[in-house]
Amino acid sequence: MVSPLSDAIKLPCGLVLPNRLAKAAMAEMLADWDHNPTPDLIEVYNQWGQGGWGAILTGNVQVDINHLGSPFDTAPPSTYTTADQSPTLVQSWAKYAEACQQHGTPAIVQLCHPGRQSFRGAGKRGLFASTVAPSAVPLRIGEGWVECVLSKVAFPAPREMSRGEVEGVVGQFVDAARLMADAGFSGVELHGAHGYLIDQFLNPKTNLRTDEYGGSVEKRTKFVLDIISETRKVVPAKFAIGVKLNSADHSSVNFEDTMTQIRLLNEAGIDFLEVSGGSYSDPKMMGPTTTQQPEQSQQPTRTAAREAFFLSFATETRTRFPNLILMLTGGFRTRAGAEDAIKQNACDVIGIGRPAAINPKFPQFLLDESLPDGEAGLPLKKVGLPWYVRLLPIKAVGAGAESMYYGNQIKRIGKGLTTSAPA
Ligand SMILES: Cc1cc2nc3c(=O)[nH]c(=O)nc-3n(C[C@H](O)[C@H](O)[C@H](O)COP(=O)(O)O)c2cc1C
Repeated sequence: MVSPLSDAIKLPCGLVLPNRLAKAAMAEMLADWDHNPTPDLIEVYNQWGQGGWGAILTGNVQVDINHLGSPFDTAPPSTYTTADQSPTLVQSWAKYAEACQQHGTPAIVQLCHPGRQSFRGAGKRGLFASTVAPSAVPLRIGEGWVECVLSKVAFPAPREMSRGEVEGVVGQFVDAARLMADAGFSGVELHGAHGYLIDQFLNPKTNLRTDEYGGSVEKRTKFVLDIISETRKVVPAKFAIGVKLNSADHSSVNFEDTMTQIRLLNEAGIDFLEVSGGSYSDPKMMGPTTTQQPEQSQQPTRTAAREAFFLSFATETRTRFPNLILMLTGGFRTRAGAEDAIKQNACDVIGIGRPAAINPKFPQFLLDESLPDGEAGLPLKKVGLPWYVRLLPIKAVGAGAESMYYGNQIKRIGKGLTTSAPA
């Protein structure tokens, strides 16, 4: 029987995804010293481009070269005027788009600004310069004293952005989207999850502003809504604009606020919403730790519920916004799990992260009809930690090890080397 994962889907802008399996954003950390894409990065996407994906979301591309998530993030230069005035820049990004889309898979660039989650030394702002954020609320990766010291060393204290700076960053997102459209990409995804700047604006714990960008749920959403409306004015009609949003953190603060934000995004005409969760202080996007349970309190019976980290949030979102295209990312490892999520109408598109770093052609494998369900999957063990690392009282250590391990596999793909799942 043909899998429902093979069905094409059309986004509101008219862009068609040839199937339901999307490679989720994974920071490759393969930029050169000027933060341009390198040949290794292009090779990684050359491999993913041959994988039979329904969509390829790039790893985060930072919109401000002064504020990066990590020192080797890709980031276009601060201002972009026109393709005529910056032909070399457009060509280098066009090669990237071509590698992704050479076999008909649309590629969507994830645009990001880390705000207060920018490591010291990541970006051209200087070692001792502060980060920027909606409000001057320092980042704490945990409550213990080791975590507090580490937070202070790793992340400079943020300062509150002026109104002019907020408008400036909106402009940086818009310029970056325009560059990506000129380079031939099919869309952008605004990274509004995992504790980065857009998420910092959305979240009442990190946005204490009293101007038009804070104070009420609607005002906290204005920053991302401004980016969406300004971007629409400058990109082609068929260029997709999506948003990656957190389910978990906000729901613990005020679930209804998050639903209001989704309503506003839906009314703004986004093409898709990707559901994820977590931040540096509580990295739920990498799955439950040994002390946490998944969203479900009892052992779930359905395959999708056993795999997907944020299934019940997606299901609730679907009930309230039946026409919003939903991508659900986190935990999917098998054909049965992914099909189950689609069949129970929890989402339209399945986001796949870590399996894509082990097998760049994961969709071809999953959709191979000659494979029985029991074999169509890639269960992955958690990355092992040496005993002395496990003793460290730092919550983020497991997620950090996962990121490092899979980041290394991505680098191996770029060098033409074989990859391996954690032992
Ligand atoms: C190496 C690595 C890098 C990641 N970088 C990003 C990123 O740039 N942007 C993002 O939204 N999520 C990022 N993530 C999170 C993934 O998109 C995804 O949400 C997470 O891995 C859970 O999906 P999975 O269980 O299929 O891996 C990254 C994950 C990994 C493993």
